[in-house]
Amino acid sequence: MDQSSKPIGVFDSGYGGLTILSSLRTKLPAYDFLYLGDNARAPYGPRSFDVVFEFTLQAVEYLFAQGCELVILACNTASAKALRTIQQQVLPQKYPGKRVLGVIRPTSEIIGNFSESKHIGVIATEGTIKSESYCIEIGKFFPEVSVNQYACPIWVPLIENALHETDGGKWFIRRDLDLLLEQDPEIDTILLGCTHYPLVSELISEHVPSHIRVISQGDIIANSLEDYLSRHPEIETNCSKQGRTEFLTTENADDFNRKASQFFKGSVESRHIRLV
Ligand code: DGL
Repeated sequence: MDQSSKPIGVFDSGYGGLTILSSLRTKLPAYDFLYLGDNARAPYGPRSFDVVFEFTLQAVEYLFAQGCELVILACNTASAKALRTIQQQVLPQKYPGKRVLGVIRPTSEIIGNFSESKHIGVIATEGTIKSESYCIEIGKFFPEVSVNQYACPIWVPLIENALHETDGGKWFIRRDLDLLLEQDPEIDTILLGCTHYPLVSELISEHVPSHIRVISQGDIIANSLEDYLSRHPEIETNCSKQGRTEFLTTENADDFNRKASQFFKGSVESRHIRLV
């Protein structure tokens, strides 16, 4: 991308945000996107609030320096632990014209509409679950909905190592789903509150009772971004539109390109960068 480009930044701890990026590109093909995966320091799920905040801010500032005026935190853990502080403390002081958006609020705004029983199950990383962000945010938009959550810390390493299709991998995934549903048998909607989980959504649907809907975030985030851009012309007009996507990773670029194909339709040619 040339120096005058102003792509929309898409940040994730690693590969998972590519599932969100796929939906963004489908919905908004005219825009330029710059994806950054902090693979060298992933997973973020088990990390503390302070560390996730520090790492996420470094990534956001890097994307700003590349010309991004708008950055999407396409990572639930980063959205849960870093977004609010960045929006409320960092942007007004250091980057008043720039914007950072997350994935938890747009998902929470709509997820209640999928449920008839008004019982929703949320599965996510340990960090997202402990933050209680989904319970708090869904409660604001759908106070009548009961939210039960369950942390699945083993799913990200299983998926990243392509072990989710093995008997052992399936055993862990089914066990965690059973434990979620035991908490609340009235759950009729399961939200995949982690960017990696769309890769196992079929496996989930096969295992849970057939009336349960399994909801991935990609399309929700893409619709929400389209709406945001239409309501914020001062941001939208600054975004460059040549339909290009570039990929950055803090780990080895060849490894990233190879593994990325699990998460992203289309070929990936990434570039290695250092955040520190
Ligand atoms: N991208 C993260 C999320 O959506 C999952 C991977 C990680 O733990 O870093 O929460």
